[in-house]
Amino acid sequence: LAGDQVLVVSNREPYIHEKAADGTVKVRRPASGLVTAVEAVMRACSGTWIAHGAGSADRETVDKNDHVPVPPKNPSYTLRRVWLTEEEEKGYYYGFANEGLWPLCHIAHVRPVFRSSDWEEYVKVNRRFADAVIKEARTDNPVVLVQDYHFALLPRMVREALPKATIITFWHIPWPNSESFGICPWREEILEGMLGSTILGFHTPFHRKNFLDTVDRYLETRIEPEASTISYGNELTQVEDYPISIAWPDYPDTVPVDVCRTEIRQILGVPQDHLLAFGVDRLDYTKGILERFQAVDRMLEMHPTMVGKFSFVQIAAPSRSDLEEYMNFEQRVRKLADKINDRYGKDGYLPIILKIEHHDQNELQRYFRASEVCMVTSLHDGMNLVAKEFIAARDDEHGALVLSQFTGAARELHEALIINPYHIEQGAEALYRGLTMPSVEQVERMRSMRDRVRRFNVYRWAGHMLLDAARLRKREKVMQ
Ligand code: G6P
Repeated sequence: LAGDQVLVVSNREPYIHEKAADGTVKVRRPASGLVTAVEAVMRACSGTWIAHGAGSADRETVDKNDHVPVPPKNPSYTLRRVWLTEEEEKGYYYGFANEGLWPLCHIAHVRPVFRSSDWEEYVKVNRRFADAVIKEARTDNPVVLVQDYHFALLPRMVREALPKATIITFWHIPWPNSESFGICPWREEILEGMLGSTILGFHTPFHRKNFLDTVDRYLETRIEPEASTISYGNELTQVEDYPISIAWPDYPDTVPVDVCRTEIRQILGVPQDHLLAFGVDRLDYTKGILERFQAVDRMLEMHPTMVGKFSFVQIAAPSRSDLEEYMNFEQRVRKLADKINDRYGKDGYLPIILKIEHHDQNELQRYFRASEVCMVTSLHDGMNLVAKEFIAARDDEHGALVLSQFTGAARELHEALIINPYHIEQGAEALYRGLTMPSVEQVERMRSMRDRVRRFNVYRWAGHMLLDAARLRKREKVMQ
C-alpha cells in the first residue's frame, strides 16, 4: 500500500477545539477507544481523517478546505472536519446511531428506539460523509478506512462513485445474533450498505459469525463460510476478525509506581496502606458500572475486615448526555454510590469515590499504577481497551484485573479474573481475590498478559487489515 492515499472516516474527531471561559482555544482528546486506536495508526501512516467537527472552536481552527493539521503540537496527518446541523446531529448521531444501533448491537437490555425521522438524517449524513471522502480522493483507488456503526451506509455510497477503491470497514461494537438484529426496520439497507466494503472487520469470531448469519437470513447472497466471503451482486466482501489493541507505551518518563501510590492516596485523603480498586469508563449503561458498585457493596458485606481499609475509585467521563437514557443512568449511578457510602461510610471513609468528569491520559496512568485492582465489568463490549491500558501501565508486573466475560478482551486476557458481571457474588469474590492476591501470582498473570498485549498491539491490528487489503488489491490488478 506504500504510496497509496489513506482516508479514514469516523464520527468522533481525534482533536476537539473548545473555547474556554477565558476566550482562549483549548484542544481536548475525546474518551473513545476507537479514537485512541486509530490515532496511533494515523500518526504512523499520515493521510486524511474525516470526522464530525463538534467542538465550539472547531470552525476557527480549519483552513478554507476545512482541514487542520494534527496532532497540533507535531502535525503528521490532516483532519478534515464535516459540519452537521443540529437537526442532523440529533437524528443521525443521538437518534439512529445511539438510540437505535448502539443498544441494538450491545443487547444491554435497553430497548432500541427506531424513528423514521432519525433514519432519514442517518441516510443524509452518511451521504454527506461519503461526498467528503469522494472529494478528498486524489486517485480513483484510495484506501478508505470506515470506522463504526455511524457509517453503515457509506461503504456502498463510496463504492458507487469509486468502484476501484479499497474500502475497509471496521465495526467497533458487537454484532448481535440475527434474530436480535432483525428488529431493525432498515436491516436490509444497513447490510447492503456494509457490503459495499472490500473488507469488513469485527473484533471477535463470534461477531463475525453473527454477521454472516444475519446476512444469510435477510439478504439474497452467496456466502462461502470457509473463506468467510459474501458475494452480493457483482461484489465480493471479505469478512474477518481483527481484535483491536493499544499502542505499547514507551516508559522513560513514567512516574514510578511507588510515587503514584503515594500521590494518589494523598489526593484521595486516604492512608498510605489503603487498598484501592479502580474503574474508568464513559458514563454508559453498557459498561456495568451499577453491577460493579453492587459487587463492591457485596464484597464489603462478605468481608467486613475490608471496611475502612479499601475504596473503589470510579472515573466516569460524561457521554451522550443529551439523551434521556444517559441522564437517567447518571442519576442511578450517583444514587447507588451514595447509598453504599451511607451504609459503610464513617469518619470520612468512603467505600466508593465517584468522579464524573473528563480525565487526561496522565491522570489515568497514575490511577492504573496506584491501584491494587482494575475492574472492567461491561455487560457487552466489542473489545474494551481500558483492560489493555491497565495491563500496559503495569511495568512493575503487579496489580490484578477483574474482567467481564462479555468483552472481546476476555478472549485474549485469559489470566484476568474473568467474571459474569450480572453475577454480583462472583464479582465480589473476584474483587476480594484481586485485593488479596499473592505477589508471585500477580506477577505470573501480569507477565503473560503483558507479553500478549505487547505483541498484539494496535499496529498489528492495522497491519493485519492493511496486508489483507494489499493482497486483494494485488489480486485485482492481476485480474484486470
Ligand atoms: C465507542 C464507539 C466509538 C465512540 C466512543 C465514544 O467506543 O465504538 O465510535 O467514538 O464509544 O462515544 P462518542 O459517542 O462520545 O463518540
